[in-house]
Amino acid sequence: MGKDVIIACDFSEAKETFAFLDKFTDKKPFVKIGMELYYAEGPSIVRELKKRGHKIFLDLKLHDIPNTVKKAMRVLSRLDVDICNLHAGGTVAMMEAALEGLTRPDGSRPLLIAVTQLTSTDRETMERELLIEKPIDEVVMHYALNAKKAGLDGVVCSPLESEKVHKICGKNFLTVTPGIRFSGGDTGDQKRVTTPLTAKEFGSDYIVVGRPITAASDPVSAYNRCVEEFTK
Ligand code: C5P
Repeated sequence: MGKDVIIACDFSEAKETFAFLDKFTDKKPFVKIGMELYYAEGPSIVRELKKRGHKIFLDLKLHDIPNTVKKAMRVLSRLDVDICNLHAGGTVAMMEAALEGLTRPDGSRPLLIAVTQLTSTDRETMERELLIEKPIDEVVMHYALNAKKAGLDGVVCSPLESEKVHKICGKNFLTVTPGIRFSGGDTGDQKRVTTPLTAKEFGSDYIVVGRPITAASDPVSAYNRCVEEFTK
């Protein structure tokens, strides 16, 4: 899979999701389904989007004991999505178990990527509440290396971290990056944002874009603008 734009379909129900995606008549965009939509609609939303020809990043961020994650991943592998994820904080053993569960009898499997440290957690909270004293940047890179050691395909990170992740984990280790805004656009609750073009320059492999596309007055042209900036 090459560089692509993934639309974060942060909708609360299937009807709204399909009404949004029906606007795209020429190309079936790669979509991200998160916890809200998946918990509301269950696996049927994945099957339906697959049937409609979309590639899917199922963003459920698993984190549990290795055996439980392995068994859950085995179930998810049957949904035939393109990318799944988990928390790197669940340990290398959990990530290895997840890969095992995700791998089908014929050896094929969806890509598996790790969330390193959520961007909603800042340094102060890490120190005070989680007793993690190292700088966030060091923690993120260490977790990325753990994911690589476990055999995962990449991480979710900021485009600002893509270059360093590639330097440490190799250029084939995928960086899937949210926090994208058009220049001059509304940043919403995202703090460290970059444009699709800057994400491309930093070497991101996939950008995840939500509101700049879903809340645009013309979502199709906003999507096309992202693709144009990021991939051309
Ligand atoms: O609307 P927006 O472009 O901010 O959406 C970004 C998407 O990426 C959301 O689904 C959000 O949950 C997700 N995400 C993020 N930052 C992370 C991890 C995931 O914004 N660190």
